[in-house]
Amino acid sequence: MSFDFDTVFDRRHTSSLKWNKYKNRDVIPMWVADMDFQSAAPILEALHKRVDHGIFGYTVPPDELVQVVVDRMWEKYQWEIKPSWIVWLPGVVPALHLACRAFGNDGDEVLTFTPVYPPFLTGPSLSKRQLKTIPLHRQANRYTMDPEKLKSEITSHSKVLLLCNPHNPVGRRYDRQELRDIAEICVEHNLVLCSDEIHCDLILDGRPHVPTATLSPEISAHTITLMAPSKTFNVPGLNCAFAIIENKNLRTKFRQIRKDIVPNVNALGFSACLAAYRDCESWRMALIDYLAGNKDIVYRVINDEIPGLSMDDVQATYLAWIHVKELNSDDPIRFFENAGVGLSDGKEYGGEGYIRLNFGCPRKTLMEGLERMRSAVKIG
Ligand SMILES: Cc1ncc(COP(=O)(O)O)c(C=O)c1O
Repeated sequence: MSFDFDTVFDRRHTSSLKWNKYKNRDVIPMWVADMDFQSAAPILEALHKRVDHGIFGYTVPPDELVQVVVDRMWEKYQWEIKPSWIVWLPGVVPALHLACRAFGNDGDEVLTFTPVYPPFLTGPSLSKRQLKTIPLHRQANRYTMDPEKLKSEITSHSKVLLLCNPHNPVGRRYDRQELRDIAEICVEHNLVLCSDEIHCDLILDGRPHVPTATLSPEISAHTITLMAPSKTFNVPGLNCAFAIIENKNLRTKFRQIRKDIVPNVNALGFSACLAAYRDCESWRMALIDYLAGNKDIVYRVINDEIPGLSMDDVQATYLAWIHVKELNSDDPIRFFENAGVGLSDGKEYGGEGYIRLNFGCPRKTLMEGLERMRSAVKIG
């Protein structure tokens, strides 16, 4: 079956967060992590069917969806989860905040590796926790987490580690041993390990994703896993995500802290999630191929054709983390916006001197964006 990722859709008049930022300006938005592809046909059909029913009352997780998630974890990771371990949520970001709030007390510490997706950095203080950041270690053109550094930062007030795997923005798919080294430290020091795996279905290098909780029963007992169909199937505006928490004590605390504040998932979110996980695997495989092709283009153009810019390979996600210090610009975001490309500022991720480029778009859009960047640097 062939799928179309090449059609360029006009999103300018759809109240899109991504496109509205540059309303009335000729700027290609390549910032926030949503893609410019239409959702797969089974998702559109499921949504049409649900809308046609015409009644949108409060909705509980469909039994079939729960079973699809249970089966998915087994088929992809040989991870045997129980339906009762799943906590449905309207987003992964609220879950990061809940994880900060559910464990420990005001002033306790939440740790994370940087650079990282901004809510990892803002969640702790908004939850009256103290943030402790540990820089990722860059070695042989890739980033990794340093277990010794993590250990040296842990105190009796450390309660939670927020982990991002695959990692936004650096694009790493951590392997089993790297994860085990970090997770075992969490077990030893009794930290809750909140593992954001929202990008787990977007691995571009053909290697398997390893859910942290599958490493050992002890690690599973300390882990909250966060997943969602949103990034992969391009339905982030439909607000459907879930946590998998084996440990009943952690699950109870996590559920209690969300009670009556965090809304339930809506009917359309559940419908899209079910169709995505049940009916869209061949679409996902084709998407991965397309994104891997985009990634190769970005990698070549950035490293070989634009002086002053460089990037490491992207193992997972549709995000490129680009080093721009040698561009010698005080404000690289403004520089590229003036050239007609909207990117994310590394500063917001704790990564000064970097920009993040979202290559989840039709190739024509990507080529145009890269060409604008190349011309801007050439002209200076
Ligand atoms: C690592 C990570 N977590 C969470 C999110 C957003 O999650 P949600 O839209 O479900 O709140 C993103 C979006 O880019 C992300 O990259």
